Amino acid sequence: MDPRSEVLLRQIELFTDNTLLVGLPADELLTMIPTGKGWSWFADDSQILQQCYPEKIHLGTTAPCEVFSAAVIFLPKSKELTDYLLQATAATLKTNCPLYLVGEKKAGIERAAKQLTTYGKAIKLDSARHCQLWKVTPQEAILPPKLSDFAQTYHVDEINITSFAGVFSHGKLDIGTNLLLQHLTNIPQGKILDFGCGAGVIGSLIKQQHPKTCVYLQDVDAFAIASTEQTLQQNQLEATTLLADGINAAPTELSMIITNPPFHQGVKTNYETTEQLLTQAVYHLIKGGELRLVANSFLKYQPIIEQAFGNCQVLAEKNGFKIYSAIK
Ligand SMILES: C[S@@+](CC[C@H](N)C(=O)[O-])C[C@H]1O[C@@H](n2cnc3c(N)ncnc32)[C@H](O)[C@@H]1O
Repeated sequence: MDPRSEVLLRQIELFTDNTLLVGLPADELLTMIPTGKGWSWFADDSQILQQCYPEKIHLGTTAPCEVFSAAVIFLPKSKELTDYLLQATAATLKTNCPLYLVGEKKAGIERAAKQLTTYGKAIKLDSARHCQLWKVTPQEAILPPKLSDFAQTYHVDEINITSFAGVFSHGKLDIGTNLLLQHLTNIPQGKILDFGCGAGVIGSLIKQQHPKTCVYLQDVDAFAIASTEQTLQQNQLEATTLLADGINAAPTELSMIITNPPFHQGVKTNYETTEQLLTQAVYHLIKGGELRLVANSFLKYQPIIEQAFGNCQVLAEKNGFKIYSAIK
């Protein structure tokens, strides 16, 4: 069980009434808190939880439209996302009901607890398993936040990119992505997937430069997909967005998969998604289709790609990043 869930279980008497669990891990916590309901924005966690707790998991960027007697936020990585979640969660609570924040010390729970003070006096309730549990009781009714108030925009060529709180490289172009964008040559016709699209920068630029392509933009994070949809809309671009986990959920018959793939998820490092992408991408491509990606040079992706495709070329190397290309 996730250590943050273990800390909550030490105080189980606090969660006997209907409790909203925000950003909960994919573990058995809902078995121990049967009056609980989960809100997740990750397609992978919510899929696992849906299987065990159907009807109890809400997937999306906004809180479920219900009123709760208590709520627990599992601290996310981003400070801006914490601010958004605090307001969105406080708005679901009945007056004078408690809002809890739980998180690992290494994820910055001490710092994040200061963000609670916007809603009242923050009290530390427990510290165990390298985690802390904090509580605040908002004294007045809180209005739900507008996601657009938590957006940042930047420009890449003629495209306006919008990213919402918590999305990769929020408000600025990542240097790895920038390198990839400088090598957008030989873009084929047909179906192109921007895997792990974040705010939609790669797929949107391809669609703008090659309007005849059929672009898909996939991400596991609902805030990323909401950002991508905003980016597409703002630039009058038409493409298909997919809120889904991993390459196995991607379309087939693709002429290209292009990506700056993930290697961090939340506060944990996660290579699994990318390893699966590198080994399975070939099954989603047409003959002659290409996998093109940018990655930190220290990541040992080339042998994995060669194993799967029988070839792998380094198209460029700069500032600690490499661009790989493999053809089916
Ligand atoms: C390095 S970021 C790149 C974002 C964007 N393409 C860019 O270049 O700015 C990787 C993205 O992969 C997404 N991601 C992580 N795990 C995933 C998974 N299992 N399936 C799909 N996308 C995933 C993350 O949410 C993140 O947006």
